[in-house]
Amino acid sequence: MSNDQKEIESLLARRIGLDPTSTGPHVIGVAVRRRMADLGIREVSEYAAIASGSEAEQQALIEEVVVPESWFFRDDRPFRWLSDRVREGWVGRPGRPAFRALSIPCAGGQEPYSIAIALLDAGLPARRFRVDAVDVSTRSLEIAQRGVYSANAFRGEGEWRRHFRPVARGFELDPAIRSTVRFVHGNALDPKLLAGSDPYDVVFCRNLLIYLDRPSRARVLSTLDRLVADDGVLFLGHADRIDDPDQAPRFLPTGESGCFCHRRATHPNPPHAPFSMPMLTPILAERMLPEPPLVRMLPVPESEPRPEPAAPPPPSPPRSPMEEAAELANLGRYDEAIAACERQIRQKGPGAAVYSLMGMIRQAAGDSRAAEDCFHKTLYLDPRHDEALLALALLADRRGDHAAAAGYRRRLSRSSGQ
Ligand SMILES: C[S@@+](CC[C@H](N)C(=O)[O-])C[C@H]1O[C@@H](n2cnc3c(N)ncnc32)[C@H](O)[C@@H]1O
Repeated sequence: MSNDQKEIESLLARRIGLDPTSTGPHVIGVAVRRRMADLGIREVSEYAAIASGSEAEQQALIEEVVVPESWFFRDDRPFRWLSDRVREGWVGRPGRPAFRALSIPCAGGQEPYSIAIALLDAGLPARRFRVDAVDVSTRSLEIAQRGVYSANAFRGEGEWRRHFRPVARGFELDPAIRSTVRFVHGNALDPKLLAGSDPYDVVFCRNLLIYLDRPSRARVLSTLDRLVADDGVLFLGHADRIDDPDQAPRFLPTGESGCFCHRRATHPNPPHAPFSMPMLTPILAERMLPEPPLVRMLPVPESEPRPEPAAPPPPSPPRSPMEEAAELANLGRYDEAIAACERQIRQKGPGAAVYSLMGMIRQAAGDSRAAEDCFHKTLYLDPRHDEALLALALLADRRGDHAAAAGYRRRLSRSSGQ
């Protein structure tokens, strides 16, 4: 790789934290060539010099390298969690301060609008919540503000679909819902991002950390530390990684299955929540569990009736083989995780989600060929499956087949183009 290309990569790492290996080496090269063609430049060295001295050119390059993939109610469990929590804690308590949610990064608005829809459909009126949404891509923010989406942004079923109406170029979200979200152009690495804002009851930071290098993940963690309220909740994506082994962990998973929901490490875990790490992250083991809260036992005078013993916690709902597979994978028990996936296929039939999970487990176990096979099966069932397309692109790059990798990336950007 030329020094000029390296200089551009480190510029992107400094600006947005991009780890070039997360998208494959060619994405940046292709983006640079596209920018050079737009500017009528022939030498990479000339482009590197322009980019390093121009904020506007850096932004143009950022637009070319980011992955704006998103869709409504993506991995819908966090939204179900949100509806339940808001119904319990806010809807019937009109005196409570407005509920505050943040989506960072928000891509084309699919995530923050899903949050707003979940809150409204849970019965919380718009004046009682605030949804802020941040992204580094101005192109994505323009899409968000337009509020018109192609079929690609609709990958699940649900009542929420009634808030869209067909228009000439796709489906338009009800303007009343659009007006509840405030979009901000910003960078998750910026220590002054949303300075002056009160912290949020819930922060969605999904599918960003996966693209960042380690120092940038640490910077984003500091941003999140500042923006999540003390008793707030942080949702990550299932492949996102929080790694701060040198310091005490700031956030820990709450254990709600399939939610990738985290609370501050200082927050006492809900007593009946099983503890689990998000899927395929390094195992941080029990030593990261917060100490159980100290309960001071006061002597109860004999004459007073003893308090009723606390009701036993409700039994945990039965886990699906998929949930079991994710948890086993987390523990590094890959063979058992695969067996759980196979059980899922026997019980429910083949599906894109289970094959994609098997692919990730095979990859984590170091078996790239078997992983590729699983990702191909995923694409057979869902030709636009973004995680499978990205994984196949990275695997193809790794074995030196850059033409195949470029093909998967083209499909990925077509499938994410709104
Ligand atoms: C894959 S999308 C995730 C969107 C949404 N959170 C979801 O899970 O569907 C990744 C987004 O991260 C944005 N992004 C990348 N680096 C960023 C940074 N340093 N600060 C803010 N946004 C960033 C990109 O512009 C892109 O829209």
